[in-house]
Amino acid sequence: MTPRKPPAVPGRKVRPGTEEPRPDAFDVERVRAEFPVLGRTVYGKPLVYLDSAATAQKPRAVIDALARFYLEDNANIHRGVHYLSERATTAYEGCRDQVRAFLGARETCEIVFTHGTTESINLVASAWGRQNLGPGDEVLITGLEHHSNIVPWQLVCEATGATLKVVPITDAGEVRLKDFEQGLTARTRLVAVSHMSNALGTINPVREMTALAHARGVPILVDGAQAVAHLPVDVAALGCDFYAFSAHKIYGPTGIGVLYGRRDRLEAMSPYQGGGDMIESVTFARTTYAPLPGKFEAGTPNISGAIGLGEALRFVARIGLEAIARHEAELLEYATREVAAIDGVRLVGTAPHKAGILSFVLAGVHPHDIGTILDLEGVAIRVGHHCAQPIMDRFGLAATARASFAVYNTREDVDALVRAIHKVKEVFK
Ligand code: ALA
Repeated sequence: MTPRKPPAVPGRKVRPGTEEPRPDAFDVERVRAEFPVLGRTVYGKPLVYLDSAATAQKPRAVIDALARFYLEDNANIHRGVHYLSERATTAYEGCRDQVRAFLGARETCEIVFTHGTTESINLVASAWGRQNLGPGDEVLITGLEHHSNIVPWQLVCEATGATLKVVPITDAGEVRLKDFEQGLTARTRLVAVSHMSNALGTINPVREMTALAHARGVPILVDGAQAVAHLPVDVAALGCDFYAFSAHKIYGPTGIGVLYGRRDRLEAMSPYQGGGDMIESVTFARTTYAPLPGKFEAGTPNISGAIGLGEALRFVARIGLEAIARHEAELLEYATREVAAIDGVRLVGTAPHKAGILSFVLAGVHPHDIGTILDLEGVAIRVGHHCAQPIMDRFGLAATARASFAVYNTREDVDALVRAIHKVKEVFK
């Protein structure tokens, strides 16, 4: 099937007197050409990569930036007076400011580099939670969370005597605001909620949730691991206290992520880990800590990772998140229609407000068998519980098959997915 011509990118001008988009308008084939891995075959078949929710592929610019750093500029940061160290420090801190602009944060010191979303959430659970939670207090999460936004709260609740409370989800996989509001009590001390579900694709109304939490004086952490690659995020407009994401889901390297924290929140928190670079002065009697964000970045950080993230954000900015969101929304709509039409398929997660993810089961076939047969057809998807076992439990399932979409996917990818599901049906006939 021929892909529909993507509409022009909003906000971009057309040449005077013509309707023709400028050459830099969204063109999926040009985007694909930037991803070397998409040109490869697996088992002699063209790779159809539908597993970007697990990790997105990397454009050449990111790969080149990583190589360039090690080939030309490698040195430790904040420590040396020599040329390379100055260059590495400038590059690393420059990326921090890029992240600030990307998230719409007010101050660069509100951006802490971590290993990824998981570490960002653990940082808050540990540093904020241990200081602010006690017996009888409640942490409120939703039934849509990834394990990384459940287990750190269980650990801190165990350590402090606080209780973890969960807002239920509907059969469509949504959190209703009235259920969320009901979950907020006089004992709620923190809300932690995913912006977009990795297992179902549901987008939570985090702005409204923030307003409801703040009306009761409760801070809110938003897990943006999935959302950042699919929709524009503005932490100042959301008003959230903390926002976490990982570079590798937004076309950057693995092993680097971000915690945005409102300055007053971060300043009131004790360090999470001790070590080099996070101090102001150390004696055996007493240590004082570096100002933000250094206080939370103990040890040599992932310097090349930050530089790769900066390059990934430049890649995303060149296309524009609105254009990416529109392309993926069209693709998801098409995929939903085509996959749902296959006899025996049941979609899991049908919220009206969702992005980039199609979870499904096929009658009489275990998702792992679906994944294995699809793989032999060159179609890469994730199968299993997606690190979200409570969501599977909610739907009475052990696992689903999950196709996830990114900026480089096409209708041909969806057609290949549909053909491969028919192949599964033939095998299990
Ligand atoms: N959290 C990642 C996923 O959803 C790994 O696949």
